[in-house]
Amino acid sequence: MDRKALHKLSYGLYIVSAQKEKRPNGQIANAVIQVASDPPLVAVSINHQNLTHEFIEAAQGFTISILAQETPMEFIGRFGFRSGRDIDKFEGINYRSGSTGLPIVLDHTVGWLELNLIDKLDVRTHTLFIGQVVDAEVLSDDPTLTYEHYHKVKKGRAPKTAPTYREIEIRHQKLEV
Ligand SMILES: Cc1cc2nc3c(=O)[nH]c(=O)nc-3n(C[C@H](O)[C@H](O)[C@H](O)COP(=O)(O)O)c2cc1C
Repeated sequence: MDRKALHKLSYGLYIVSAQKEKRPNGQIANAVIQVASDPPLVAVSINHQNLTHEFIEAAQGFTISILAQETPMEFIGRFGFRSGRDIDKFEGINYRSGSTGLPIVLDHTVGWLELNLIDKLDVRTHTLFIGQVVDAEVLSDDPTLTYEHYHKVKKGRAPKTAPTYREIEIRHQKLEV
Protein backbone atom coordinates (compact mmCIF):
# COMPACT_ATOMS: atom_id res chain seq x y z
CA MET A 1 0.00 0.00 0.00
CA ASP A 2 1.34 3.44 -0.94
CA ARG A 3 0.27 5.60 1.99
CA LYS A 4 1.44 8.66 0.05
CA ALA A 5 -1.85 8.48 -1.86
CA LEU A 6 -3.49 9.66 1.38
CA HIS A 7 -1.38 12.82 1.21
CA LYS A 8 -3.18 13.75 -2.01
CA LEU A 9 -6.44 14.30 -0.08
CA SER A 10 -7.28 18.01 0.36
CA TYR A 11 -8.25 19.78 3.60
CA GLY A 12 -8.58 23.20 5.18
CA LEU A 13 -7.42 24.19 8.67
CA TYR A 14 -9.86 25.06 11.41
CA ILE A 15 -10.17 25.73 15.12
CA VAL A 16 -12.78 23.47 16.69
CA SER A 17 -13.94 24.87 20.05
CA ALA A 18 -16.26 23.84 22.86
CA GLN A 19 -16.59 24.42 26.59
CA LYS A 20 -17.04 22.73 29.93
CA GLU A 21 -18.24 24.41 33.11
CA LYS A 22 -18.03 27.77 31.27
CA ARG A 23 -14.34 27.26 30.44
CA PRO A 24 -13.58 27.54 26.69
CA ASN A 25 -11.06 25.38 24.83
CA GLY A 26 -10.27 24.74 21.19
CA GLN A 27 -7.85 22.92 18.94
CA ILE A 28 -6.60 22.92 15.36
CA ALA A 29 -8.25 20.31 13.13
CA ASN A 30 -7.93 19.61 9.45
CA ALA A 31 -10.42 16.71 9.53
CA VAL A 32 -13.56 18.81 8.99
CA ILE A 33 -16.08 18.06 6.26
CA GLN A 34 -19.64 19.03 5.35
CA VAL A 35 -21.55 15.73 5.07
CA ALA A 36 -25.14 16.84 4.28
CA SER A 37 -26.83 20.05 3.15
CA ASP A 38 -30.47 20.05 4.25
CA PRO A 39 -30.13 20.47 7.15
CA PRO A 40 -26.41 21.32 6.91
CA LEU A 41 -24.36 18.73 8.80
CA VAL A 42 -20.61 18.88 9.38
CA ALA A 43 -18.34 16.14 10.78
CA VAL A 44 -15.09 16.66 12.70
CA SER A 45 -12.63 13.94 13.72
CA ILE A 46 -11.21 14.52 17.21
CA ASN A 47 -8.61 12.43 19.04
CA HIS A 48 -9.87 10.75 22.24
CA GLN A 49 -6.93 12.21 24.21
CA ASN A 50 -7.67 15.84 23.40
CA LEU A 51 -9.27 18.14 25.96
CA THR A 52 -11.49 19.43 23.15
CA HIS A 53 -12.94 15.89 22.88
CA GLU A 54 -14.00 16.04 26.53
CA PHE A 55 -15.40 19.57 26.09
CA ILE A 56 -17.47 18.66 22.98
CA GLU A 57 -19.00 15.75 24.93
CA ALA A 58 -19.77 18.09 27.84
CA ALA A 59 -21.20 20.88 25.68
CA GLN A 60 -23.04 18.56 23.23
CA GLY A 61 -21.95 20.98 20.53
CA PHE A 62 -18.95 22.74 19.04
CA THR A 63 -17.93 25.68 16.84
CA ILE A 64 -15.64 25.79 13.82
CA SER A 65 -13.52 28.84 12.96
CA ILE A 66 -12.29 28.74 9.36
CA LEU A 67 -8.70 30.02 9.33
CA ALA A 68 -7.28 32.60 6.93
CA GLN A 69 -4.23 31.82 4.81
CA GLU A 70 -2.11 34.41 6.62
CA THR A 71 -2.74 32.86 10.07
CA PRO A 72 0.63 33.05 11.93
CA MET A 73 2.41 29.80 12.79
CA GLU A 74 2.55 30.92 16.43
CA PHE A 75 -1.26 30.96 16.54
CA ILE A 76 -1.45 27.50 14.93
CA GLY A 77 1.15 26.25 17.42
CA ARG A 78 -0.87 27.51 20.37
CA PHE A 79 -4.03 25.70 19.27
CA GLY A 80 -2.44 22.72 17.50
CA PHE A 81 0.59 21.75 19.56
CA ARG A 82 -0.45 22.77 23.07
CA SER A 83 -3.22 21.25 25.15
CA GLY A 84 -5.79 23.15 27.14
CA ARG A 85 -4.80 20.76 29.95
CA ASP A 86 -1.56 22.78 30.27
CA ILE A 87 -2.44 26.34 29.20
CA ASP A 88 -5.45 28.63 28.82
CA LYS A 89 -5.49 28.89 25.02
CA PHE A 90 -8.21 31.56 25.06
CA GLU A 91 -6.25 34.03 27.19
CA GLY A 92 -5.69 37.18 25.10
CA ILE A 93 -7.63 35.71 22.16
CA ASN A 94 -10.44 37.59 20.43
CA TYR A 95 -13.55 35.38 20.74
CA ARG A 96 -17.25 35.62 21.45
CA SER A 97 -20.13 33.43 22.58
CA GLY A 98 -22.50 32.06 19.97
CA SER A 99 -26.28 31.66 20.26
CA THR A 100 -25.83 28.35 22.12
CA GLY A 101 -23.23 29.92 24.42
CA LEU A 102 -20.29 28.15 22.79
CA PRO A 103 -17.01 30.05 22.25
CA ILE A 104 -16.17 31.18 18.69
CA VAL A 105 -12.55 32.14 17.94
CA LEU A 106 -12.53 35.32 15.78
CA ASP A 107 -8.79 35.96 15.34
CA HIS A 108 -7.53 35.00 11.83
CA THR A 109 -11.03 33.69 11.07
CA VAL A 110 -12.74 34.24 7.69
CA GLY A 111 -16.00 32.62 8.79
CA TRP A 112 -17.43 30.42 11.50
CA LEU A 113 -20.08 27.74 12.14
CA GLU A 114 -21.88 26.90 15.38
CA LEU A 115 -23.22 23.35 15.70
CA ASN A 116 -25.36 21.17 17.93
CA LEU A 117 -24.02 17.64 18.33
CA ILE A 118 -26.48 15.23 16.71
CA ASP A 119 -24.44 12.03 16.39
CA LYS A 120 -20.99 10.52 16.88
CA LEU A 121 -19.05 7.52 15.65
CA ASP A 122 -16.07 5.92 17.32
CA VAL A 123 -13.26 5.51 14.77
CA ARG A 124 -10.56 3.81 16.89
CA THR A 125 -8.21 6.62 17.99
CA HIS A 126 -10.69 9.39 17.13
CA THR A 127 -14.38 10.20 17.43
CA LEU A 128 -16.23 11.51 14.43
CA PHE A 129 -18.55 14.17 15.89
CA ILE A 130 -21.43 15.15 13.61
CA GLY A 131 -23.03 18.53 14.20
CA GLN A 132 -26.01 20.37 12.77
CA VAL A 133 -25.21 23.98 11.88
CA VAL A 134 -27.41 26.31 13.96
CA ASP A 135 -25.63 29.58 13.13
CA ALA A 136 -22.88 30.75 10.79
CA GLU A 137 -21.25 33.96 9.57
CA VAL A 138 -18.78 35.10 6.91
CA LEU A 139 -16.25 37.57 8.35
CA SER A 140 -14.03 38.24 5.34
CA ASP A 141 -13.27 37.24 1.75
CA ASP A 142 -9.58 36.64 2.47
CA PRO A 143 -8.26 33.32 1.14
CA THR A 144 -8.62 30.35 3.48
CA LEU A 145 -5.71 28.30 4.79
CA THR A 146 -5.40 24.89 3.14
CA TYR A 147 -3.53 21.94 4.59
CA GLU A 148 -1.33 21.94 1.48
CA HIS A 149 -0.37 25.61 1.96
CA TYR A 150 0.33 24.91 5.65
CA HIS A 151 2.75 22.09 4.73
CA LYS A 152 4.32 23.42 1.54
CA VAL A 153 4.52 27.18 2.14
CA LYS A 154 4.43 27.56 5.91
CA LYS A 155 6.48 24.33 6.33
CA GLY A 156 4.13 23.24 9.11
CA ARG A 157 3.87 19.80 10.70
CA ALA A 158 1.05 17.79 12.26
CA PRO A 159 1.29 16.19 15.73
CA LYS A 160 0.59 12.52 16.41
CA THR A 161 -2.98 13.28 17.47
CA ALA A 162 -3.93 14.53 13.99
CA PRO A 163 -5.72 11.82 11.96
CA THR A 164 -3.51 12.70 8.97
CA TYR A 165 -0.29 12.38 10.99
CA ARG A 166 2.59 11.10 8.84
CA GLU A 167 5.34 8.82 10.20
CA ILE A 168 8.02 10.97 8.57
CA GLU A 169 7.01 13.82 10.86
CA ILE A 170 8.29 11.90 13.90
CA ARG A 171 11.78 12.29 12.45
CA HIS A 172 11.26 16.03 11.85
CA GLN A 173 10.13 16.48 15.43
CA LYS A 174 13.14 14.59 16.79
CA LEU A 175 15.50 16.67 14.65
CA GLU A 176 13.97 19.86 16.00
CA VAL A 177 14.40 18.89 19.66
C1 LIG B 1 -2.03 21.01 11.19
C2 LIG B 1 -2.71 20.29 12.32
C3 LIG B 1 -3.85 19.53 12.08
C4 LIG B 1 -4.48 18.84 13.12
N1 LIG B 1 -5.63 18.14 12.87
C5 LIG B 1 -6.25 17.48 13.88
C6 LIG B 1 -7.49 16.83 13.65
O1 LIG B 1 -8.09 16.87 12.56
N2 LIG B 1 -8.05 16.14 14.70
C7 LIG B 1 -7.45 16.07 15.94
O2 LIG B 1 -8.00 15.44 16.84
N3 LIG B 1 -6.30 16.72 16.19
C8 LIG B 1 -5.70 17.45 15.19
N4 LIG B 1 -4.56 18.16 15.45
C9 LIG B 1 -3.96 18.06 16.78
C10 LIG B 1 -4.61 18.92 17.87
O3 LIG B 1 -4.80 20.26 17.42
C11 LIG B 1 -3.69 18.90 19.12
O4 LIG B 1 -3.58 17.57 19.59
C12 LIG B 1 -4.12 19.84 20.24
O5 LIG B 1 -2.99 20.06 21.06
C13 LIG B 1 -5.25 19.32 21.09
O6 LIG B 1 -5.52 20.31 22.07
P1 LIG B 1 -6.50 20.08 23.33
O7 LIG B 1 -5.91 18.98 24.19
O8 LIG B 1 -6.46 21.41 24.04
O9 LIG B 1 -7.84 19.73 22.81
C14 LIG B 1 -3.94 18.91 14.42
C15 LIG B 1 -2.83 19.71 14.68
C16 LIG B 1 -2.21 20.40 13.65
C17 LIG B 1 -1.02 21.26 13.93
